[in-house]
Amino acid sequence: KRHLISAADLTRDDAVLILDTAEEMARVADRPIKKLPTLRGRTVCNLFFEDSTRTRISFEAAEKRLSADVINFAAKGSSVSKGESLKDTAQTLEAMGVDAVVIRHSASGAPYRLATSGWIDAPVINAGDGTHQHPTQALLDAFTMRRRLIGPDAGLGQDLGGRRITIVGDVLHSRVARSNVDLLHTLGAEVTLVAPPTLVPVGVETWPCEVSYDLDSVLPKSDAVMMLRVQRERMNAAFFPTEREYSRRYGLDGDRMARMPEHALVMHPGPMVRGMEITAEVADSGRCTAVEQVANGVSIRMAVLYLLLGGNEPAVSSPRTDRT
Ligand code: CP
Repeated sequence: KRHLISAADLTRDDAVLILDTAEEMARVADRPIKKLPTLRGRTVCNLFFEDSTRTRISFEAAEKRLSADVINFAAKGSSVSKGESLKDTAQTLEAMGVDAVVIRHSASGAPYRLATSGWIDAPVINAGDGTHQHPTQALLDAFTMRRRLIGPDAGLGQDLGGRRITIVGDVLHSRVARSNVDLLHTLGAEVTLVAPPTLVPVGVETWPCEVSYDLDSVLPKSDAVMMLRVQRERMNAAFFPTEREYSRRYGLDGDRMARMPEHALVMHPGPMVRGMEITAEVADSGRCTAVEQVANGVSIRMAVLYLLLGGNEPAVSSPRTDRT
């Protein structure tokens, strides 16, 4: 049984295999007919208990490009509102003949529970759980960095050794930050987190990264700067930072972007809150890869689905419990 639950489960070779496979999938997207027959006759269920635009739609696009049959489940409007559990929901869907489950859930650990409980037999792919992990986001971010900083062909077989990546903002609530720290470390990059002291998680000193509170001093040493959204929906209203104060200290505007090396990327997983963590000027600049990251997400998700369901390659991942 093979699953993708956490970026921390991936070895360097697993991750490079996924990135290289995604390069092959990206070439499919450039063809007039953007489909492969790989998953014909297989059914993938997208189980979304939390809102999503990019992840949900790009998984669906990836599944369709691999010719899978797709079942979309959204908790809103379902029998979850009547009290149905995750176990009963998943078993109900599997009874309809599901070969893999993609799950997003607000509870950290829900995908791990689904993968290891014995409730269902299908492989499980984590599409984001609470503040824990979002492994396909980290993979698409690494794919974007490798393509831009090394090149699509030159990057094949390569990791991100020696690249300096800065992740800025609400690290406390960010599964994107956790997944990226894990994966970028595995790929040999040096990661620095920059956040207000109130948005730095307890225990961050055990993470494989540096922490700074001074964005301006870190920017000139960065090959990529990843901006994070302040996740108000996961905060007590009393702790909301004011937009003006937050953007003054931790927002990326044109003046700050000018402090970055010319080759350095501005990244954002989306959704962006323009005016808070990033100005419109920066978001719309040629250095911002936010839209490219979305396109790359389809290739990465095709690669993960292919390796889990369609290929004979080594396991993409098996779940581990140590970072839930
Ligand atoms: N980046 C990301 O996970 O976006 P969505 O919440 O829109 O899927």
